[in-house]
Amino acid sequence: MSLNTIEEQLYRPNFHFTPKANWMNDPNGMFYLNGKYHLYFQYYPEDNVWGPMHWGHAISEDLIKWKEQPIALYPDSLGYIFSGSAVVDKNNTSGFGDDGKTPVVAIFTYHDIDGERAGAIDFQSQAIAYSLDEGQTWTKYEGNPVIPNPGIKDFRDPKVYWDEIRGHWLMVLATYEKSFFYSSPNLKDWELLSDFGETVGEHGGVWECPDIFPMNVEGTNETKWVLIQSLNPGHINGGSGTQYFVGDFDGKNFVLDPSFAKDLDQVETKWLDFGRDNYAGVTWSNIPKSDGRTLFIGWMSNWDYARDVPTTTWRSAMTIARELSLKKVNGSYMLFSEPVSELDAYKNLVREETNINFNKEFTIIANKTKAIDKTIIEIELSNLQKDRYRFSLENDEGEVVDFGIDNIKNYYFIDRTASGDLSFSEKFADKISIAPFDDLQDTIQLQILIDKTSIEVFYNQGQTVLTEIFFPSSPLKTLKLTPANNLKAVIKKLVVSELEL
Ligand code: FRU
Repeated sequence: MSLNTIEEQLYRPNFHFTPKANWMNDPNGMFYLNGKYHLYFQYYPEDNVWGPMHWGHAISEDLIKWKEQPIALYPDSLGYIFSGSAVVDKNNTSGFGDDGKTPVVAIFTYHDIDGERAGAIDFQSQAIAYSLDEGQTWTKYEGNPVIPNPGIKDFRDPKVYWDEIRGHWLMVLATYEKSFFYSSPNLKDWELLSDFGETVGEHGGVWECPDIFPMNVEGTNETKWVLIQSLNPGHINGGSGTQYFVGDFDGKNFVLDPSFAKDLDQVETKWLDFGRDNYAGVTWSNIPKSDGRTLFIGWMSNWDYARDVPTTTWRSAMTIARELSLKKVNGSYMLFSEPVSELDAYKNLVREETNINFNKEFTIIANKTKAIDKTIIEIELSNLQKDRYRFSLENDEGEVVDFGIDNIKNYYFIDRTASGDLSFSEKFADKISIAPFDDLQDTIQLQILIDKTSIEVFYNQGQTVLTEIFFPSSPLKTLKLTPANNLKAVIKKLVVSELEL
């Protein structure tokens, strides 16, 4: 078998989006229109490492199965096409829809590589392009850039939202240490409103790929605004990561909710994902009111090693599409994420059990021949004690991906330090990833998505999430659950499903 065939069989995900060939990073410009979810992405079609950026394109009817499309945006004399967003301009505020067609408008960053190489600092600017055929082909606006660089080196990743209350477009974009807000009546003329973040949140690296949107606080009539903010490096477990803030937007300023901190020097950091492989994620625009969901997807990699992971045909995948919800937990606003419910349609039940007592190794899946590589496990554990409950996903080579809950050290974890190929980067498995909690957890509920090269663990309806990738030398086949100190606990519920795609 050729190397490529081995790579396809061993590493190409079963149910996560990958481009057929070459390099991909951030998701861009996601919108919904006429039954189709559009996903664009940072793409370099000529190599398997980062290069002159284009927007690749894929379409799905259910957020699970994706069909790759021709490249949407090519770099030009103004620069590479960096990350950004897209909106459906239903009222034709932009005037691009003059023949009666609804324009879709993409808002992106031009990265002028020549300027950067010449040592300029003003090499990033914001620009727009429009499509009159539902996102298939695009025309760049002749008046670009719509926001010239104001003298700031990192100035990118515009995300635009229709602010219904104010009746204008709201843009958030990231600069090195804070995000800027702008408004516009027509997507062409932008006015700077305010900025946020210089003195709050994590600042271990450069801020990138923000997103802002209002959300209903589940079970209440309250609306809060959520600001998603990626940064690289600076993640709690290393490299690229995404934090979020909850507050109010008064038409000019984003005001952090007081529950985040008593004083602004001690703002609590909230991570959208504690795993190392969910970066630059943002939400879909134009989701119909009748649907009402906030839908999110992230890039399932990390700049610490994204260029080095051992695939050659393509590089990197997206996370599963997720539904976000906002809940108040013990007086604190928390952003929950769970896989979109469209996934359910692909599930075939493999095993279902309730009330299993265990105090030693318990085998959840033992396949001698079949890989665990399109598998979903829903499990509820109760009567947990001060012990370490370790799920171990293993192959015939003894390579293992561990994850679970440690009630001794008080954290959820993923441990890929023995997961197979680690040779490509020193940072890939330099430590385990953890999500700390305060008090012993008596009961937990997990939803676990396992693909060939990734695991996404959603704890307690997605209040805490860990997403990580791995590269075993043969398929993973068994899954066991072991309490390290043999303390008794109960599997209240176990449901194992296999996806049929
Ligand atoms: C985030 C990022 C963005 C930028 C893009 C370039 O991963 O660095 O800030 O627009 O990637 O590909």
